[in-house]
Amino acid sequence: MRLKLIAIIAVAFLAGGALAFALRSEGTTPASVGTAAIGGAFSLTSHLGQRVSEKDFAGRYLLVFFGFTNCPDVCPAGLQVMSAALDKLGAKADGVVPIFVTVDPARDTPDVMKAYVSAFHPKLIGLTGTEAEIQAVTNTYRVYAKRVEDSGSPGGYTMDHSGFIYLMDKAGLYLTHFSHSASPDEIANRIAALD
Ligand code: NI
Repeated sequence: MRLKLIAIIAVAFLAGGALAFALRSEGTTPASVGTAAIGGAFSLTSHLGQRVSEKDFAGRYLLVFFGFTNCPDVCPAGLQVMSAALDKLGAKADGVVPIFVTVDPARDTPDVMKAYVSAFHPKLIGLTGTEAEIQAVTNTYRVYAKRVEDSGSPGGYTMDHSGFIYLMDKAGLYLTHFSHSASPDEIANRIAALD
């Protein structure tokens, strides 16, 4: 992912957050607008080939990251940070589900995801699906992802995508997000402070 693009995405993301806050501040919209802005229901296929939805993770915190297995830099960095944060949490990590959702379902089949996630953390769950299912979940999480032709990449294309790590509460509602370049301590400390 190119730095200029990251900056654009960051600005767009912050603008969206400001808008949600503004709507909430006016008092004319339901309080749920703010929390409903990021995340929600999904129906996808895990790296073990099982159909899963947000209901399967109810009662646990979620760390959700979007990317693709051919990503050269942002995704490995984000997944390493997530994995290190989980290891720092010790027993408290039992209440946290780390999830990697592909934005490239054409190449990232369940088998590809299985090999990839196992390289990062034994608890990491890889999720893929049909193009429509992935489009739906990226919309829900307000994730930017776009195919870019690139003759130097496998299959002749790469994916530009936003690189936030989302922390969702036990009911699946958005709590906060981190940069893919956040420190493991920052994430672990935030989760350790929760109930
Ligand atoms: Ni990536």
